[in-house]
Amino acid sequence: MKASILLFPVLASAAAVQYERRQFAQKFPLAGVKKMEPRLNKEAERIMVTWGPYDLLPRSAKKTSIMPSMDPNGQAFIATFDDGFCEDCSVLQGQVGIQFASNGTEADVKHGVYTHHIDTIINKGNKNWISFCDSAKNNSISGFGNLLDNINVPMTPFLMMGDDNGNTPTQYTSSDGEFKSGFYVPKGANIAASSEVVNYSEDTIPLYLYMDLEYMPGKYGSDAKTMLLSVTGCGGRKIALNHDGPTRTQSEAFKILEDGYIINGKGHLHDGGVSMEMLVNGKSVCESKATYGGDKGTLTVDGKKWETISAMTDCGKPIPVRKGDALSVAATYDLKLHPQRTQGHGEEAGVMGMWDLTFAESMGPIPSKSLRSAEFL
Ligand SMILES: *[C@@H]1O[C@H](CO)[C@@H](O)[C@H](O)[C@H]1NC(C)=O
Ligand SMILES: *[C@@H]1O[C@H](CO)[C@@H](O)[C@H](O)[C@H]1NC(C)=O
Ligand SMILES: *[C@@H]1O[C@H](CO)[C@@H](O)[C@H](O)[C@H]1NC(C)=O
Repeated sequence: MKASILLFPVLASAAAVQYERRQFAQKFPLAGVKKMEPRLNKEAERIMVTWGPYDLLPRSAKKTSIMPSMDPNGQAFIATFDDGFCEDCSVLQGQVGIQFASNGTEADVKHGVYTHHIDTIINKGNKNWISFCDSAKNNSISGFGNLLDNINVPMTPFLMMGDDNGNTPTQYTSSDGEFKSGFYVPKGANIAASSEVVNYSEDTIPLYLYMDLEYMPGKYGSDAKTMLLSVTGCGGRKIALNHDGPTRTQSEAFKILEDGYIINGKGHLHDGGVSMEMLVNGKSVCESKATYGGDKGTLTVDGKKWETISAMTDCGKPIPVRKGDALSVAATYDLKLHPQRTQGHGEEAGVMGMWDLTFAESMGPIPSKSLRSAEFL
């Protein structure tokens, strides 16, 4: 998950309007739909949908896509799907990714395929539940926040993944699946995926794009929506870093625009990051902590052992919020404990501090203020 995700709504909205005419996007044919055992709710349906196959260009090939690549060896594309997934259904949990067409194995770094990101959107309207910028809005950042506020194309971000953050399913309910909510997919929906994949493999191997969807038919409770909030806000705030010890950077207030619950949250940091904190009206309500190393997080870089972030803890208990509440986010980095990763010519890679939040509007009265904050930790 990179800054590209923040840009995606803009690119995708523009693309969604134009791609039919300009052949921006490739329509991926449906390859298969397989029924699976539900994981979260016994009553739910679960399907594995695959589209494709498609081939990556060789690493050295000249890329012709109109989409800009974020990795010099990457191949960016927009794919569209209009069948295979459930319609008039509420997705409780979903995952997007790439697999080998031959055997259904995840096409990951171990197998020579690095997924920089896959971001998907669905063509339905979406009322923002939280302001895009914090109160320190800085319009000189090319009016980015304003631009987003002014886009009227009905587009809602759906599943996304990136190899810098592992590939864990996105949940549109609480961690235990008890909260009655889901991401509603309307009848006649279309999905577009913006992706960049890097091919390190020497073999010609057809790949499928897949979605693993667990869902309830029809509308199920609240229609859940997600948001990525960055500690940098829209104001070009810099994340403080120090080689001698911990530094904490806090945003100003993002404004809650609707009564409801933050039903799920997970922090996103880069190496050097320790934790992400979330505050409602100045009170800390949740912390998402980074885990380093382990099987998935230990690499060898230039012959040296390197421990990278392998997981972030999540906040899976609903946090009630009301219209007008102020939400702020804070990132703690400690470069003494965990050095930043270096790239290319030895310069340190960029840092991020974001919350990936899922919100469900209130279907009834919100519990009183006494139920806030500490009780939900
Ligand atoms: C699936 O196919 C890919 C590509 O040929 C291969 O690298 C991988 O090892 C296979 N996985 C299994 C479990 O056979
Ligand atoms: C990756 O690139 C190689 C050439 O370097 C090419 O033969 C192969 O088809 C590509 N792999 C995939 C999965 O498309
Ligand atoms: C706004 O952002 C620009 C670009 O990063 C920066 O130069 C400027 O100092 C910022 N202004 C304020 C008031 O923060």
